[in-house]
Amino acid sequence: MIRSQVRRALLLFAVIGLSPSLGAAVQAPPAIAAPSLAPADWDAQVKLKEAVDHNPDPRIVEIDIVARVADVDIAPGKRVKAWTYDGGLPGPLIRVHVGDRLIVHFTNQLPQETTIHWHGVRVPITMDGVPGISQDEVEQGKSFTYDFTVPDAGLYWYHPHVQSAAQVGFGLYGALLVEDPAEATTVGVPDEVTLVLSDIGFDDAGTLDDPDNGDSTGMVFGREGTYVLVNGKTRPTLRARSGAPQRWRVVNAAKSRFFVLNMDGFVFTIIGSDGGLQESATTTEQVLITPGERVDLIVTPTGAPGTELVVRSMLHNRGYGSFFRNVEDVLAVRISDDPPAPKVALPKVTRTIMAPPIAGATHVPMALTLPPIDWKGHNEFQVNGVPFWKSTPYLAKIGETQIWVVKNDTDWDHPFHLHGFFFIPLDEHDQPIHPMGWKDTVNIPQRTTARLLVQFNERPGTWMFHCHILDHAEGGLMGHVQVGPVAAEHMHLEEPKPR
Ligand code: C2O
Ligand code: CU
Repeated sequence: MIRSQVRRALLLFAVIGLSPSLGAAVQAPPAIAAPSLAPADWDAQVKLKEAVDHNPDPRIVEIDIVARVADVDIAPGKRVKAWTYDGGLPGPLIRVHVGDRLIVHFTNQLPQETTIHWHGVRVPITMDGVPGISQDEVEQGKSFTYDFTVPDAGLYWYHPHVQSAAQVGFGLYGALLVEDPAEATTVGVPDEVTLVLSDIGFDDAGTLDDPDNGDSTGMVFGREGTYVLVNGKTRPTLRARSGAPQRWRVVNAAKSRFFVLNMDGFVFTIIGSDGGLQESATTTEQVLITPGERVDLIVTPTGAPGTELVVRSMLHNRGYGSFFRNVEDVLAVRISDDPPAPKVALPKVTRTIMAPPIAGATHVPMALTLPPIDWKGHNEFQVNGVPFWKSTPYLAKIGETQIWVVKNDTDWDHPFHLHGFFFIPLDEHDQPIHPMGWKDTVNIPQRTTARLLVQFNERPGTWMFHCHILDHAEGGLMGHVQVGPVAAEHMHLEEPKPR
């Protein structure tokens, strides 16, 4: 508790300290960050290991990451030979400040080639981690250095973009938290935890599930692992002081599973989504987080000492096959013996978001389909009539604003993800859905149409879009948009090789 107070204070000093040396105008001193209210070691069971910054420059975070197979315990007596970043499940939490430069020396010690994609981060195309488009695959035993600045505060995450359904399902993912020190006062909740939701499947010998289970029918259903994980553990416990607010930064890193969080009917206050804070806060008892999405929420557990509140993932119909699924326990929240916290008035979290100009935007129609099974008994998803390995790029000029009208003509939901650019979801009249937030992944429910407003204002290159049910992506539901001039050598998407 003390440590996090000190860290907050240091964050504030960092901000104040910088301005004079840059010769900036004198700023009003920021309000003092609120002290922690949580019991000691409240987050001990879920605390993520953090990547170690070995660069002395305060504005550069420079780390090493090794991908390798490792034995991981997800529960007592439950050990899996997982694919990991640095031996952990999830990989290390990378913590940077907005505007920092991040350098990652990455080494691949897996038995297969891989890459790292920085989901949601507005990186240059050469850092986007897509083989054949932005870089070559990192072969076994080889290294690659990722180096970019991190322009937007928010919770992001990293994962491979090679055989991604298999590799993410095997355990390759981690959180990238881009902090804005101003939020210590504008959000004002000192007790914050990053929660990486996922799942994994393996047998009694600890051998990972076959990622091709059920062939192309398994692909269409979207394969889920048997064990539901929070920061790599089954049903861990978070401790809470009754009446003390907690800020949860949540990412769904599962390759197919949807999470619908409910904590015994408590109200969650949603303050942000993929690209940081949203226009204004909303409240809900059930938070849907589809694969790839992030949610920034505040919750205030209350109860008598010893009370155990349970965060569950509720049922959700994401398409045929959902009736096989159950309500799952995700996390327990245990009320400590401390006296209830005095009532705190939290600031109203708001953010001014300027949507790109809607007038004059180019409409780009996209139909997501699943044609009847072919004569070989094979299913594939298609975008405008083709799976990604037969696709040609969509085009956008630098500075062009587009409205992607994505019609889901299938009986499955598709969490739709665009690389490199945020978008604003629009309603059927092409008006922003409020409260606005910068999104990079949005669920498109079965048989509905989504309208996504995006401005391709910078960073020419070939950027992917795909369903973040990674089985669907590999089953065809993926494409690419060429922003700016065409780089001929980087246009080819390969059909997945049989494993
Ligand atoms: Cu997180 Cu191409 O995806
Ligand atoms: Cu999908």
